[in-house]
Amino acid sequence: MKALTFHGRRDVRVETVPDPVIEQPTDIVIKVTSTGLCGSDLHLYEVLGPFIDEGDVLGHEPMGIVEAVGDAITEVKVGDRVVVPFNIACGHCWMCDHGLQSQCETTQVRDQGMGAALFGYTKLYGQVPGGQAEFLRVPQAQYGPIKVPDGPPDDRFLFLSDVLPTAWQAVEYAQLPEEGTLVVIGLGPIGEMSTRIAQQRGAAKVIGLDLVSERLARSASHGVITHDVSAGGDVIEAVRELTGGRGPDAVIDAVGMEAHGAPGAAIAQKMVGLLPDPVARKLMQTAGVDRLTVLNLAIELVRRGGTISLSGVYGGTADPLNLLQIFDKQLTLKMGQANVRRWIDDILPLLEGDADVLGVESFATHHLPLSEAPAAYEMFQKKQDGAFKIVFQPGA
Ligand SMILES: NC(=O)c1ccc[n+]([C@@H]2O[C@H](COP(=O)([O-])OP(=O)(O)OC[C@H]3O[C@@H](n4cnc5c(N)ncnc54)[C@H](O)[C@@H]3O)[C@@H](O)[C@H]2O)c1
Ligand SMILES: [Zn+2]
Ligand SMILES: [Zn+2]
Repeated sequence: MKALTFHGRRDVRVETVPDPVIEQPTDIVIKVTSTGLCGSDLHLYEVLGPFIDEGDVLGHEPMGIVEAVGDAITEVKVGDRVVVPFNIACGHCWMCDHGLQSQCETTQVRDQGMGAALFGYTKLYGQVPGGQAEFLRVPQAQYGPIKVPDGPPDDRFLFLSDVLPTAWQAVEYAQLPEEGTLVVIGLGPIGEMSTRIAQQRGAAKVIGLDLVSERLARSASHGVITHDVSAGGDVIEAVRELTGGRGPDAVIDAVGMEAHGAPGAAIAQKMVGLLPDPVARKLMQTAGVDRLTVLNLAIELVRRGGTISLSGVYGGTADPLNLLQIFDKQLTLKMGQANVRRWIDDILPLLEGDADVLGVESFATHHLPLSEAPAAYEMFQKKQDGAFKIVFQPGA
């Protein structure tokens, strides 16, 4: 089959690789019809190379048609239409029972000291072949795959794999009080969907920060008060003014470790890309390599006693955090990979009916054949051609 493979920093290629087959009785194989490109893939493309082998297949936002099922699978059958959550969870361990599917004790990557395995996401997360491919083997298929009806276009359901549950969890973890005020930093797919979900769930005021004009405009078009952080001027002052001088009840960081504007850490991240893998891995796991501009901004912005919800991914273990301010302001921090399966039943009703209240069918800006994936990674990273959410259609 054809698949998108990693070859080094900013070097991904579409190659022919072996077709996946059923390996465990609880596996299925799907024929991928749509598969998303995510801000998390950009971390692989730019800084996480030391944790990926050449030839690894990337991608973790797939849906498609069941092609083959293992002997133990009764939950889905050949021909069913399914969306596959980005984390692989068993559905029957203590963590899964407690809504912590991203910590699944059956698939935890123990040799790396990490949580549940993820599709297409480095050795840290199990080195499981990813979904930017014509076919995908799905382990733990008694639980993961979400059966969806035939009829509506793929985009109606595709974002259940990652964007929707991640944004839902970001809002949930923000613990907004009734009539609460929320700031979302980063208006990429995750941040933008978080603003939509917060509005649906009754937030009184949603403020969005970014530096890309189309992205700001996109959020503004549905009632988000936007602020361009690159425009100069005092962001903190601007947000204070919009929040009665006190600051918002909660801030969602939907940017993560590659925040724009932190020259020191940008150099550290670049160094990581230049060192031999074992040295770079060690550096990333023991040094401070994250660009904390956004997290620090969140700490500054949020009101005393407020909550910071982190959905942006961070990597280093020794990044200096402003503990003084976190403590003094009595903040709550909630974060982590989305527990995808946990939120699906809450989200599905919003995808039903003609209204499309979350705007999922017009969410993607680009639908491309898989062969164009290398160029699409570059376009998405550089935010060219209005690229906001890119969906590959391997069958096209
Ligand atoms: N927790 C999870 O389960 C989970 C799931 C999916 C994605 N993520 C993470 O969420 C983050 C966002 O993903 P995405 O798909 O929306 O990607 P993205 O890269 O398109 O979005 C990031 C946005 O942040 C903006 N930005 C960068 N620096 C900024 C700054 N200093 N101030 C304000 N805005 C800034 C960018 O312009 C961009 O619009 C990534 O870190 C990704 O890894 C986490
Ligand atoms: Zn993703
Ligand atoms: Zn489990």
